[in-house]
Amino acid sequence: MESKYYIVLISIHGLIRGRDLELGRDADTGGQSLYVVELAKALSRHPDVGRVDLLTRQVFDQKVDESYRVPEEQIDAKSFIVRLPCGPRRYLRKEVLWPYLDQFTDQAIRHIRRAGRIPHIIHGHYADAGYVGAGLASLLEVPFVFTGHSLGREKLRKLLEKGLSEEDIQERYNIRNRIEAEEFALGVASMVVGSTRQEITTQYRQYENFHPHKKVVIPPGVDIERFHPEPAAADSRARLLLEPFLRSHAKPMILALCRPDERKNIASLIHAYAQHPHLRELANLVLVIGNREDIRELDTGSRKVLSHMLLLIDRYDLYGHVAYPKHHGSDDVPALYRLAAASGGVFVNVALTEPFGLTLIEAAASGVPIVATDDGGPQDIVGNCHNGLLVDPLNTGQIADCLLDILEDGSRWQEYSRSGMEKVRQHYTWHSHVDTYLNHIRSMTHLEDPHTYELKPMQKFSIMDRLLICDIDNTLTGDLAALQALVEKIKRNNRRVGFGVATGRHIDSARAVLQEWGVPTPDVFITAVGSEIHYGHSGRPEHSWSRHIDYRWNPTRIRQVLEEVPGIRLQADSEQRQFKISYLLDPTRAPSLKEINRLLRKANVTVNVVFSHNEFLDILPVRASKGHAVRYIALKWGMPLENILVAGDSGNDEGMLRGGARAVVVGNYSQELEKLKGHENIYFANTNFAAGVIDGIRYYDFFQEEDDAATGDSGNH
Ligand code: GLC
Ligand code: MG
Repeated sequence: MESKYYIVLISIHGLIRGRDLELGRDADTGGQSLYVVELAKALSRHPDVGRVDLLTRQVFDQKVDESYRVPEEQIDAKSFIVRLPCGPRRYLRKEVLWPYLDQFTDQAIRHIRRAGRIPHIIHGHYADAGYVGAGLASLLEVPFVFTGHSLGREKLRKLLEKGLSEEDIQERYNIRNRIEAEEFALGVASMVVGSTRQEITTQYRQYENFHPHKKVVIPPGVDIERFHPEPAAADSRARLLLEPFLRSHAKPMILALCRPDERKNIASLIHAYAQHPHLRELANLVLVIGNREDIRELDTGSRKVLSHMLLLIDRYDLYGHVAYPKHHGSDDVPALYRLAAASGGVFVNVALTEPFGLTLIEAAASGVPIVATDDGGPQDIVGNCHNGLLVDPLNTGQIADCLLDILEDGSRWQEYSRSGMEKVRQHYTWHSHVDTYLNHIRSMTHLEDPHTYELKPMQKFSIMDRLLICDIDNTLTGDLAALQALVEKIKRNNRRVGFGVATGRHIDSARAVLQEWGVPTPDVFITAVGSEIHYGHSGRPEHSWSRHIDYRWNPTRIRQVLEEVPGIRLQADSEQRQFKISYLLDPTRAPSLKEINRLLRKANVTVNVVFSHNEFLDILPVRASKGHAVRYIALKWGMPLENILVAGDSGNDEGMLRGGARAVVVGNYSQELEKLKGHENIYFANTNFAAGVIDGIRYYDFFQEEDDAATGDSGNH
């Protein structure tokens, strides 16, 4: 089988679908939505790419279309939009999604499990998906690519400049979360994709975790199938949009197309046009500023921009000269550029700052010359395409002059129009974007043959469908021949079934005993009676587990309380861990467990007391036990408890055995477990040690092997 890239793109906020994107519907559905869908399509057209999944948030909301509920939408032959639940079902603006992003990560892990494959690359777009993607990529140990699209530190800087207080900015935009997420994403990323040089040099530079060697500048592409100068069927419909507004349709069009966002600076454009009588005579102004029903019901920002627009039109009495259609569809957009080109018009974007300026290359592809802000991406675009002029967005006189320069000089207009169409094809197609992109990807990850490709342990976690977790002492160990048979079984099922241990020992001691008994390194170690989790091969500790159990944990106090108790003494120092205090208990001298629990509680100490083999007494944080650790792993990796089999022999296994997973008690169990007899889902094996585990595996048909007998296990130890 030929191996090809599996690429996961993540873009969480806004409304994303494969067709008829509702660009400009709100502040979260704009350039980035288009960017990620186009990127997914273009990647999937490349012969080296096998599959692209674009993960986004699933939305159930009467206020938005039903298409955003669909869990999986196919875009192209090899590209899919996958919608994952994240927080409440309703549509939410990106600033309030932060508390729900961990859920998105969990859902993404589940998706990857369903897909049964580890992506070669995870690429997060914007801070929210940067946070999710960087976390996911670290878990799965795959390279992470980050595109910020627009950056929090830059936004903060601009808003502070405008005079807003840091507190207000935090309140409105949750800017601190955003910046933290960006720092995290930049720290994890192997590659940071920017659209323009300026974005890299001025914006990413503001981040502590930005490393210049990771940056690449790859401008987005324009879909030249959609944006071209050839007249098309949609054009006459688009013309109808303008009909009600304009007195003379023959005049050249000054076209602006953007979201109703203050930063797009539409007011300056209207001032420039209105204050210049000659310009008003010469050309019509066409303002396509988002879709709307009732301006009064829009969010504050859009409402302000549109109301101001209407007031200015009235104040300057621009009736008959300005069109500002209330609705337009996505097919109208390319048509509007074509109408502007056919009229001998100009496309204008005088945003205060324009990170990239996708509309400018769409205009170029359609043959319309441009007048654009000199702040941001347009510098690169005009530099590459020689298709228009840059202006200071606050200088209305200059805006008017530049518009006139192009509108009145026919040969210049021709030159800009021709050059734009030609150069866009050279610099700004998705095809060329993807070529460059994949060249960089090739240096980060290898396309192994999927059959020989050995999964890293974390990767295995996300695709295995079952997990066997065994206590070590007297469960795995005790009967070497039986253990060898079990190990064979585990190895045979290695890709599908994970293997873990849960033990009272600490990690080094667990490793040592497993090695002594010839047991391969497990995928996960639950050690120190469930107070520590490490992933097998890398040894990486699960830090979030430590954080989770570090609750009401006061070791000094515990030692104090138990100091005076007769019949118990501390185990060796090597057995004492951050979250485990262990004693040896002499049942003939010590008070009962009940009494010990009472003493602790009286001292206001909340802990988990575990007694095993009639001699070991472990004090753990209240949230820690082998059982809780198993449950945590199940949740984290999205594995149903029925797909986990646990095996044990003694008291410290009890919680794990009764925790809801399939449980096996080996024949040689110690008496503390007697009370579990008769419990549902707890099987008492007829054989001892590892043979008992094998017995349990058979009992539950856990490995679902076709024919156990044929594989040579004797099973009779
Ligand atoms: C292991 C540990 C010990 C603990 C016992 C019971 O023997 O080394 O510290 O008390 O398991 O959980
Ligand atoms: Mg044991």
